[in-house]
Amino acid sequence: MSNDINDIVRVDLGARSYDIVIGAGALSGLGAQLKALSRSDRVAVVTDENVHALHGPAIAAALSDFRTHMIVRPAGEAQKSMAGLDAVLDSLFRAGFDRSDTVLAFGGGVMGDLSGFAASVYKRGANFVQVPTTLLAQVDSSVGGKTAINNAYGKNLVGAFYQPGLVLIDTDLLKTLPERQVKAGYAEVLKYGLIDRPDFFEALDGGLGARVLALEPDALREAISVSCAAKAAVVAQDEREGGRRALLNLGHTFAHALELTAGYDGDLLHGEAVSAGMDMAFEFSHRLALCQQGDAKRVHDHLSRLSMPTRADMGSLLRDPDELLRHMRQDKKNEGGRITLILARGIGQAFIEKSVPEIDLLTYLKDIST
Ligand SMILES: NC(=O)c1ccc[n+]([C@@H]2O[C@H](COP(=O)([O-])OP(=O)(O)OC[C@H]3O[C@@H](n4cnc5c(N)ncnc54)[C@H](O)[C@@H]3O)[C@@H](O)[C@H]2O)c1
Ligand SMILES: [Zn+2]
Repeated sequence: MSNDINDIVRVDLGARSYDIVIGAGALSGLGAQLKALSRSDRVAVVTDENVHALHGPAIAAALSDFRTHMIVRPAGEAQKSMAGLDAVLDSLFRAGFDRSDTVLAFGGGVMGDLSGFAASVYKRGANFVQVPTTLLAQVDSSVGGKTAINNAYGKNLVGAFYQPGLVLIDTDLLKTLPERQVKAGYAEVLKYGLIDRPDFFEALDGGLGARVLALEPDALREAISVSCAAKAAVVAQDEREGGRRALLNLGHTFAHALELTAGYDGDLLHGEAVSAGMDMAFEFSHRLALCQQGDAKRVHDHLSRLSMPTRADMGSLLRDPDELLRHMRQDKKNEGGRITLILARGIGQAFIEKSVPEIDLLTYLKDIST
């Protein structure tokens, strides 16, 4: 494969460092990359039925030099469960996989989180590789090593930090992704600009964002590379979220409250909630006189121009301020009964506020309630 057509972003984690390879058609280089990584010629591809139907032949062709075992699961968040984990592990045992063989996640964040966790516990840890197929997975969930399943107590509560040995991102895979999912992923792209890359925001606002949503290959490669580099930089400083990694939750505390209110049944995608949540985080930062109105307005206008969800699109989800506040109190980032929020002093100037005055938050939620 020729690396000159692909971007490479290095995730710097000492002995657990790895490359993220990004480009249109990058899948054709997967075999060579895997051979450089492991002497084993066995790969278990964990994928969902949608991705398998659309891209099964492409991954099989890319792995033609390997003995490939396909594990095809139903699509959807419900797979991030004990039953889903058990099914993947069972399939690996039945096929006689060793720790030195590779578990390869081929799908969105659901397959990535599920198979990453399975790889982390299979015989105490098998080789793991991510080939993400949604924009959200390509810019967020495949990078950084968080793996998890859900249980009755909440989302992502059972899991492990388990870094992959390689992330290979083929932007051509996005051609089949429904537009709604593309937009949901774009919210996470924009997030990196808003956190600490004002130049990236300017580029997105200046047209790169529209080109990403139109799936232009060069725009995708550029925006995904910057996004992965931004996430890699944060993860390299704070792999286990003791501090700075929490910045990646910009917009997410509002988003989780909206998601809990909507119920996790597909009515509101995570990225849609994040899009509106970032709008709210900037608006609230302005209310607290932390950030200028012009910056909050620019974020809002950028989202509106690209037909991304804003606070104004959340309708009845904003009806009950007390319920939203209750949900925000449950956030994992909170410490000592105080609400932690990621707020902003401006575009590209996000920070962690560990004791948000609840009265201000409730007043804001009441003001915007519908
Ligand atoms: N580990 C992390 O750091 C991290 C970060 C963010 C999100 N997540 C997790 O990621 C999950 C969400 O991921 P997601 O948004 O990718 O959802 P997903 O994996 O459910 O994929 C969304 C839908 O798109 C389909 N799909 C995937 N690729 C496709 C393609 N190329 N063409 C057509 N359809 C395709 C899937 O079958 C699915 O129906 C959540 O469980 C979330 O908790 C994890
Ligand atoms: Zn997110």
